[in-house]
Amino acid sequence: MSTNQMVIAQVSSIESASQGSGFVVDMALINGAYFVAAILFILSLAGLSKQETAENGNWYGIVGMAIALIATIANPAVDQIQMLLIAMVIGGAIGTRLALKVEMTQMPELVAMLHSFVGLAAVAVGYNSFLEHGEMSGMILNIHLVEVFLGVFIGAVTFTGSVVAFGKLRGILSSSPLMLPHRHKMNLIAGLVSFGLMIYFVKQEGDMNALIIMSAIALIFGWHLVASIGGADMPVVVSMLNSYSGWAAAAAGFMLGNDLLIVTGALVGSSGAILSYIMCRAMNRSFISVIAGGFGTEVTISGDHDYGEHTEIQAEDVADMLNNARSVIITPGYGMAVAQAQYPVYDMTKKLRDKGIEVRFGIHPVAGRLPGHMNVLLAEAKVPYDIVLEMDEINDDFSKTDVVLVIGANDTVNPAAQEDPTSPIAGMPVLEVWNAKHVIAFKRSMNPGYAGVQNPLFFKENTSMLFGDAKASVDDIVKNL
Ligand code: TAP
Repeated sequence: MSTNQMVIAQVSSIESASQGSGFVVDMALINGAYFVAAILFILSLAGLSKQETAENGNWYGIVGMAIALIATIANPAVDQIQMLLIAMVIGGAIGTRLALKVEMTQMPELVAMLHSFVGLAAVAVGYNSFLEHGEMSGMILNIHLVEVFLGVFIGAVTFTGSVVAFGKLRGILSSSPLMLPHRHKMNLIAGLVSFGLMIYFVKQEGDMNALIIMSAIALIFGWHLVASIGGADMPVVVSMLNSYSGWAAAAAGFMLGNDLLIVTGALVGSSGAILSYIMCRAMNRSFISVIAGGFGTEVTISGDHDYGEHTEIQAEDVADMLNNARSVIITPGYGMAVAQAQYPVYDMTKKLRDKGIEVRFGIHPVAGRLPGHMNVLLAEAKVPYDIVLEMDEINDDFSKTDVVLVIGANDTVNPAAQEDPTSPIAGMPVLEVWNAKHVIAFKRSMNPGYAGVQNPLFFKENTSMLFGDAKASVDDIVKNL
């Protein structure tokens, strides 16, 4: 073959590979781009694991995703570029609007909602690749059918589980665990029936009815699994659903034969699982019990316990108390985020430090509504990093502290976690603020926190309640200092 003939043969082979897309692209180039994107995603995860490198981590992720999108559009297998672009423009517009509008405190809700989309997409891909799998037989067909079945199952569980998580975080659904009788047996039966259906589905070389029945079971299973997990365990649930959505994406990757989707799905799936495990350890929860829908957490929520009387205090008196203190610890929680009180908290901290009073912050690992929530808010208000300490670093110091300001925190400072084995938060490590000389709790009412349980701290002799919006209360104190 002459050189000319070779070139013509090569070009025509590439063109035939890229028929329909209008692009003349070598598949090797696309696979190379996928590989680069996968490496960038790994670098992104590594970067995001530390505050100082998080910005770079974000950039790696953005560039990786841009490369992945371009390579996907240029893929010869894509023959409906217009449809793809229209879907991208609509999705991108909705995503941008949502991300710009969302408050920091609503971020977990947004994440839960995005997980539900991944689950739904995996179900759609599953049904599509079942209906349009082309000519397959023998082992290849069996493998394909198992991929379809598992992809639809994981996707459906992720979808309804995420919808329930969204509802609980938004406050549309009750945050207390749904305690149906025999709920663990029902979960087990759902799992076993689905497994049986999978064997039938493969033996029948694909039976639509089996797929539909399993989908219905998986949708109910996902709903029930998350509904039966109590509010206090929601942070773990959100990261667990993150993991499920990763596995759902990986399953979709297998069905579509897309290596990048498999790699990305596996990265999300495994990092979500590792994060869930770390959070379970931080909250002294059994990983297995949380992912199995609260298995083994037989809790009794009693609302009629008499804790006695609480004492109220005014902002001027708190200012006096602070002026006379030598050491102060501030333990912020979700209420500080809602009130956006971090800025006056910074002013108060500065005034106190200028007077020579030691001020530090104690941060609980699940304070607020997402991991690191408090750290981000305090960094935003320019509170120096070195006075912001983790729970384990500061817990022994409360007994040597004059005043603790509990600003919009509740579950994370609840002594019932240590004292009441029947409490839904029993065993969860908490900030031991009650050991300080005086505790001031900033709140608007005596309502319980996220886990829905009352807090005996508010009725202790050394605790005083400063009622009102946290920002207004701190502003008042700053004025009086
Ligand atoms: P919570 O237990 O939710 O308590 C927050 C308190 O802030 C409430 O008692 C509320 O009382 C008060 N509050 C709300 N708005 C306020 C305002 N404007 N001014 C003053 N106070 C206000 O918060 P926490 O101690 O930070 O604990 C976090 C909880 O959320 C834990 O149960 C945790 O498991 C859960 N959770 C955490 C995450 C992550 S990853 N961090 C994710 C999801 C759920 P009033 O209504 O009386 O004012």
